[in-house]
Amino acid sequence: MFVLGIDTSCDDTSAAVVVDGHQTLSSVVHSQINIHHPYGGVVPELASREHLRNLVPVAEKALSGAGIRPEDLHGIAVTVGPGLIGSLLIGLYYGKALSYVHNIPLVAVNHLEGHILSIFLEDEIPDFPFLTLTVAGGHTSIVHVRGFGNYELLGQTLDDAAGEAFDKIAKILGLGYPGGVVIERLSQSGRKDRIGFPRALLSPDSLDFSFSGLKTAVALFVKKWRQEKNPPVKLEDIAASFQEAVVDVLVQKLMRAREKTGVNTLVIAGGVACNKALREKLRETAERNGFKFYYPRPSYCTDNGAMIALAGYHRMLDGQVADLSVDVRSRFPLKDLRPLSHRAKGPGPS
Ligand code: KG4
Ligand code: ZN
Repeated sequence: MFVLGIDTSCDDTSAAVVVDGHQTLSSVVHSQINIHHPYGGVVPELASREHLRNLVPVAEKALSGAGIRPEDLHGIAVTVGPGLIGSLLIGLYYGKALSYVHNIPLVAVNHLEGHILSIFLEDEIPDFPFLTLTVAGGHTSIVHVRGFGNYELLGQTLDDAAGEAFDKIAKILGLGYPGGVVIERLSQSGRKDRIGFPRALLSPDSLDFSFSGLKTAVALFVKKWRQEKNPPVKLEDIAASFQEAVVDVLVQKLMRAREKTGVNTLVIAGGVACNKALREKLRETAERNGFKFYYPRPSYCTDNGAMIALAGYHRMLDGQVADLSVDVRSRFPLKDLRPLSHRAKGPGPS
């Protein structure tokens, strides 16, 4: 089954064609980084205008790249939330129009479910159950994944998301938006043990996250550092020490989740999952402790239409087709997802 996946939840306009929820035939992402870079964050009004300008060519490129026509599609999967309302609306209305004109089923997809399942776009896939750490610009969570559509939220951020922390620190350091990539690059020539920034682990058994204290600690440090004439600490040391504090907390929380659930297969997803320090630390920890660790390639970690096509495919198999009255939702917690009756073990129809 050919499914077109569309995501316009934040600042990337993306579309992809995926076969049977596994094989990506094409994946096109139009980034808006240049537009938002000067503002140090995403400007919602500009984001929706850019989606409006770019979505049709992006979707057409995805279809031509897959070598198919719209009428060959078996489904159109569109992110309906969570995300920026104006941006989501562009994707949903385009999906509705395409669905109506060509009489193709429309599927409403939760963006977080897309991230959680993104590992199934790879050749090497985990068996259920597994734990997914989703670390993105808007969300940080650990979810116990028992099957497609069968999720238990174990912990989430109480304030800033991990990616948001990277973006805010980059802004404080005057490095522009988005922050993750540039902080990672600077960190490579800095000392990660130079500054002992705080790690908020909360209560001993908590699987929730909090990054606002770390953000304040870095901001205060940078304020003093800027006043020094010849500071012994380099910008690169601040970046590396901050990155280490985030990675440390993410890894420790994932280890706690593993102990609590007894689940020994770990998966990471979301934009921050591109981070090499995080991948490396989890890979080493997995090797030392004998558990399985899976991560999608970077282009499947950041927002993409392929993960939406994949999640939509499983909803479609379950008969969860949307009608034209479906609307977008700025908030869309996983607990609001309808359960799936089928419990596939891997990609492809079950
Ligand atoms: O998943 P994503 O593309 O969008 C959301 O759903 O939010 O994630 C974007 C976030 C941004 O905050 C960005 O700074 C962060 O992912 N990010 C990174 C890296 N690449 C992207 N953070 C740390 N290291 C990276 N290499
Ligand atoms: Zn995302």
